[in-house]
Amino acid sequence: MKKIQHIIEIEDYQSFDELNPQDRKLLDKAQVACKSAYAPYSQFRVGAAVLLANGEIVSGNNQENAAYPSGLCAERVAMYYASANYPNVPMLSIAVAVESEAVKFNKPLAPCGSCRQVMAEYEHLFQMKMRVILSEPGGRVQIINGISDLLPFTFNAKELKGL
Ligand code: THU
Repeated sequence: MKKIQHIIEIEDYQSFDELNPQDRKLLDKAQVACKSAYAPYSQFRVGAAVLLANGEIVSGNNQENAAYPSGLCAERVAMYYASANYPNVPMLSIAVAVESEAVKFNKPLAPCGSCRQVMAEYEHLFQMKMRVILSEPGGRVQIINGISDLLPFTFNAKELKGL
């Protein structure tokens, strides 16, 4: 037996002002998107903005439902919108913003496992790392350069082929 360590790298910023202009713009779009989230049950509003390789930015927000499991996270709404409308255009970055009157945030919001799995799908499809820009309302930002630092041991189409 041997132990294998997986080291992950996270860029940690204390404020939005430290970001490069492109990341800042994407995060601003995510913040705008979270304002119109449909989150009547959790009051936890999340916005996501995806930068595509053609320069387009698409955004989405969480959509809840009285039948709770029928709702969908902001990240997947944004990525699915991107894939539905720009099917062959790689997704370069996704920024995520959150707001809630009920919660006191002390670190950037971490995407749920299902959203990480969907990020992994598009990274694999386009064979390009996706930058994930996470934020907390107080201004702290964490950037992860590629899904393997968010979801190690990823299951993707390669596994289906037994490669
Ligand atoms: N949510 C997101 O949209 N993204 C995340 O990364 C975490 C959670 C949503 C789902 C649900 O509408 C609400 O936040 C509470 O879980």
